Amino acid sequence: MALRKLVAGNWKMNGSRGALAELDAIAAAADGNPGLDVAICPPFTLIAPAVAAAPGLSIGAQDVHMAEKGAHTGCISAAMLKEAGARLAIVGHSERRADNHETDAEVRAKAEAAIAAGLTAIVCVGETEAERDAGRAVAVVEGQLDGSVPPQGKGDTLVIAYEPVWAIGTGRTPSIGDVGEMHAAIRGKLATLLGAEGAKVRILYGGSVKPDNAAELMAVADVDGALVGGASLTAAQFVPIIAGAASA
Ligand code: 13P
Repeated sequence: MALRKLVAGNWKMNGSRGALAELDAIAAAADGNPGLDVAICPPFTLIAPAVAAAPGLSIGAQDVHMAEKGAHTGCISAAMLKEAGARLAIVGHSERRADNHETDAEVRAKAEAAIAAGLTAIVCVGETEAERDAGRAVAVVEGQLDGSVPPQGKGDTLVIAYEPVWAIGTGRTPSIGDVGEMHAAIRGKLATLLGAEGAKVRILYGGSVKPDNAAELMAVADVDGALVGGASLTAAQFVPIIAGAASA
């Protein structure tokens, strides 16, 4: 079953208000390709300004706290994101798993909080280079899914992003065969965890997606879109990736 593709940009800790000028052309590309979904996840401080600048575009967050509210200095709740106009929240990005020592259980709790607030959770998984070299890539990702997929996830509230850690920001990507193998394994695991609903959950590929490889990657079976870092920062790079998704 071919699912509606989602092309999401993760700006990470980049961008100031001036960067919102990029959203005009990105929103126009989204409008011009009504058969797929496009989203941008800027830093927290730019969520509300991005929603104001591009009301038709889906704007998301890069993280969310699992608690509804309380004494968590520096954190942001799902309800706060919703109020700011966000529609999605990335959780469990490998940079947060590494830098902030986030566990699978925390990632699941964050995804549950996002879904409970009416956001779509994008749960990230992916192996390190050492794990792939040891032949453990699929087992590692299956383990992350076991621990971090929220059981109430549905096709319209949950997205998985497969992002091999060694492909992020490096210009390297797995072979098309390896991407296909991993996405098939993720699809199988989602069926085990979520039953029939698992077939409706989109699985994005992320890690050095660029204009010249986007269409090929997104044409792979069970690749239902892309999570794009560096190449989402400018419309000049991101718009051709949207076009690549549309042609895949
Ligand atoms: P790059 O596209 O810069 O490799 O980053 C991928 C990523 O981490 C998106 O979340």
